[in-house]
This record gives sequence, structure tokens and C-alpha cells, in this order.
Amino acid sequence: MTTTQTLLSDLYDTPEEQLIEQTHQLRDELGDSVLILGHHYQREEVFAFADVSGDSLKLSQQAADTDAPHIIFCGVHFMAETADILTANHQAVYLPDLAAGCSMADMADAVQVKQCWKELSTVINPDLCVTPVTYINSTAALKSFCGEHGGIVCTSSNAGKVLAWSWSKREKILFFPDQHLGENTALAMGVDESAMIIWDPEKPLGGNTAQAIEQARLILWKGFCSVHQLFKAEHAQTMRHNHAGIKILAHPECSREVCETADFVGSTEAIIQYVEAADAGSKFAIATELNLVNRLRIRNPEKPIWFLSPMVCMCSTMFRTDPQHLYATLLAIQQGNRSNQIIVPQEHKHWAKLSLERMLNLV
Ligand code: 13P
Ligand code: SF4
Repeated sequence: MTTTQTLLSDLYDTPEEQLIEQTHQLRDELGDSVLILGHHYQREEVFAFADVSGDSLKLSQQAADTDAPHIIFCGVHFMAETADILTANHQAVYLPDLAAGCSMADMADAVQVKQCWKELSTVINPDLCVTPVTYINSTAALKSFCGEHGGIVCTSSNAGKVLAWSWSKREKILFFPDQHLGENTALAMGVDESAMIIWDPEKPLGGNTAQAIEQARLILWKGFCSVHQLFKAEHAQTMRHNHAGIKILAHPECSREVCETADFVGSTEAIIQYVEAADAGSKFAIATELNLVNRLRIRNPEKPIWFLSPMVCMCSTMFRTDPQHLYATLLAIQQGNRSNQIIVPQEHKHWAKLSLERMLNLV
């Protein structure tokens, strides 16, 4: 067993109350040298330690703004990578559990996207007529690809602005890895579905004809979030049937059918703001990750809140960050051990930063 594994196994034997107290002590000792960023999907015991909480956009802005030498990202791998790209060389970003990835981000890799670009170039000249747009839920290599090819990053809270910018540059957009965010955003902007095609990386020309590619304005990568795909339009119908006046709120990673039936579609931060601004007594059924919906329920006791799906839709990789890993990361920082540091390879940093800055400048 490595030293970290031994430490973690000891921490799992420590009573949780004692561990939380030790974490508070250690966190206080480290003071301003550490900034803890927490995504809204983090479990409550970890989320309570976040100095700043937010959606992907807010947290990336925060990473770009902080001077703290040590940044602990309680979230998933692509978030910590983004923070590393946006921070200075003397700052270090840590991911408490290095196995906290994102299954959607894994659905498009640089080899596949480069192959797609190559195949597109047999039909059109992508460098002249396609803006590549990557959802922030992607590897640094894909952000770098976008930077190098005149493209940009988006999050769920600025996707509309980013698509508008991208179409102002070139006539077509290649959007990856989340089909649903791209599709829902374009539909909300009034783009006709006939202007969209799906790119399946497993098929030649993504499963399209040359003519379909020539005519498309939006090429949507066939990727999805395994958590948000569990919400169905019939869940919304059941909720409306059972609770008169209920409002359905959905994250844009949900399918088109769910988003079309929703009263409001927005990022995690936007959903929180929507609920908080509503009058007491307002009823909601929410289609996003379970930890956030449970937190909203606890913080808004005067507003009845249901989870939209009858199933448990929880992000298992977000859940990997537990109090034990957070404590171990704080301890490692105190001891000068950087084993959980996320370092984006230098070859990707320059272009990835450019694609992120293009996005941050739009906000
Ligand atoms: P936002 O918090 O940016 O809405 O993203 C949700 C998500 O799925 C993060 O992985
Ligand atoms: Fe990835 Fe979905 Fe989990 Fe977000 S909720 S980290 S998109 S798997």
C-alpha cells in the first residue's frame, strides 16, 4: 500500500465527526494559502468546506481570479484541468480523488475529434467554415484543439452566447461532446432542427452523407451525460398530473424531450437562482443531479421540491470526493506533497487557455 492509501484507510476508520473537526483545524492552519472550490454536485459534507461554490462557469472564473498558491477542486478532472490552465505557474491545483472523471468528457477524445476534422475536410474546408466548440466538460487536449482551430469553450450557462459568437465567425459549428447541450441551446435560439446533424464517431463521415454535411449549420457530437439522460419527459407528465401548478426545472444536459416540457432550462447556478427567487409555496420538480436537488430542498423548506425522476440520478464520480480525500489533500499540501496535483501538459496549455479566454471574454 502507498502512504496515501494507508492514510486513507486510517481515515476511513476515524469517526466522521472527529475527521470533520480535524479538517476544520487543518483548513484554518493553512489559511489563505488554500482556496477550496466546490461544484454544486458535491456531497454536503465536502460542499460545506467550499470557499466558493458554483457552476462550471463561476468556478472557472474564480480559478482565473485567485492568487491562492494552492487550489483544491472538489469536482471532477476536467474542472481541475481548467483551473490549472487558467492559473499562474506558481499556483497548484489539486483533485482530491484522481479517479473523479466525467463519463461525458470521455466520449470525445483528441484522436476522434482530429479524425472527424480530417473526414470533414473531404467534404468542406473546416478551417474556413467550421468553428469547433467544446463544452467545458472535455479534456484539455480538446480545448487546445478548439483554440488552435479558431474555436472556443462553452459552459451550460453561456452556450447561447458562445454559439452566436461561433456562427458570427464561420457558417458551421462542430459541437462536442454533449449532443443535448448543443441541440437544446440551438433550438432555444430558434435554429431549425433540419440544420442539425449528429456526428457518430464510430461511423464513416459520422454516419452522414456529404450532402447532409454541406447543408448542416450545427454538427452535434453523439455524446451525453449518463446522469441527465435518466430523466424522461413522462416523469414531467407524472409530476404535473400529481401536483397542480408545479414548475419543471431542467439542466440542458437533459434530452430535448425533457427540456421542451420544462418551464425553465438552465445551468446548476441558474436553477438555484430560479428556486431562490420564487415565492414561498412554489412547487418544483428538478431534473439535475441528486446532491444539488437535496440541498435545494433543505435550504428552501417553504418550497416543496421533488426530484424529477423516480430513479436515483447521482453522479458517481462527483461523489468520489469524500471528507477522507479532502482531509488527505489538505494534509499533503501542508507536508509539501503534490501527489494529487493536476498538471496539464505544456503542449496543450497555450491553445487551451486561448479557447477558454475567448469564452471568458464573452461573459
Ligand atoms: P454546470 O454546473 O456548469 O451547470 O454543469 C453541470 C455539470 O454536469 C458539471 O459536470
Ligand atoms: Fe459528467 Fe454528468 Fe457527472 Fe457532470 S453530472 S460530471 S456531465 S457525468
